Amino acid sequence: MEVYREPRLLSAKVKKIKKQGKGVGFVPTMGYLHEGHLSLTRKAKKDTDYVVVSIFVNPIQFGAGEDLKKYPRDLRRDLSLCRNNGVDAVFVPASKTMYKPGFSTYVNVEGLTDGLCGASRPGHFKGVTTVVAKLLNIVNPDTAYFGQKDAQQAIVIKQMAADLDMPIKIKIMPIIREKDGLAMSSRNVYLSPLERKEALSLYRSLRTVKGLWKRGEKNTEKLARKMRDVILKEKHAEIDYVSIVDMKALKPIKRISGKALAAVAAKIGKTRLIDNIILG
Ligand code: PAJ
Repeated sequence: MEVYREPRLLSAKVKKIKKQGKGVGFVPTMGYLHEGHLSLTRKAKKDTDYVVVSIFVNPIQFGAGEDLKKYPRDLRRDLSLCRNNGVDAVFVPASKTMYKPGFSTYVNVEGLTDGLCGASRPGHFKGVTTVVAKLLNIVNPDTAYFGQKDAQQAIVIKQMAADLDMPIKIKIMPIIREKDGLAMSSRNVYLSPLERKEALSLYRSLRTVKGLWKRGEKNTEKLARKMRDVILKEKHAEIDYVSIVDMKALKPIKRISGKALAAVAAKIGKTRLIDNIILG
């Protein structure tokens, strides 16, 4: 496994690999890797011949007062996980490599970023699409892999790739959960043992909604109220949003007819967590 810090060197390597007729898969991450990330690298390894993982805590997708400084990092552990999971190259750029003095070009997907996390984290998705566009340009993979855990992010990135004519397939993979159902996240390490228990309420609320929906409840106001009830039973929970939206435009709907996404963001103590489930 090779570790790259310089964009040009990685670009040159991928070009060489592609010249040999090999397929290249790419998994962008912010590190502190867990099974959710590794499910993506394993899928990439299955689909393609050469797997690149990037590890970069992207400063421009964090808002003021968010957790950029304390975001968990452990490069040595990440590299060994990558090595043990068949990753071929890891890209670990420095911030000053990605954002040189005078940096002034941003990629912004409109509309899809208005609601859900876009509403509570202004500028967040602009930071995400900008860095992902840069990473896709540097790596130039055949396929890039994203997790359904960040449902809005995945849909926004698909839109960006289509709008900007990027010749790259975007694949979205299912959410990997802990045994008890908590969606895996690098941020779960922030949780105290009590908060860890309370954090389960996000998934519980989604399961409740799925159950009600299966039994015929299609009114999203009622479903959302139930989700809130489940989460607000927890002492340290503060809801950011609970929303049922259509899967394409990510706009709130009144009644569920086709496929819908039930999504939740909540703070448990100081830790902001997100989760979602597809209905239909
Ligand atoms: P990060 O949070 O490190 O996640 C990297 C990728 O792993 C994302 O596509 C995310 O959806 C996926 N992922 C995280 N937890 C998962 C889980 N439990 N199950 C399945 N997939 C999971 O998302 C980012 O980084 C950044 O915004 C990034 C796209 C790298 C841009 O900076």
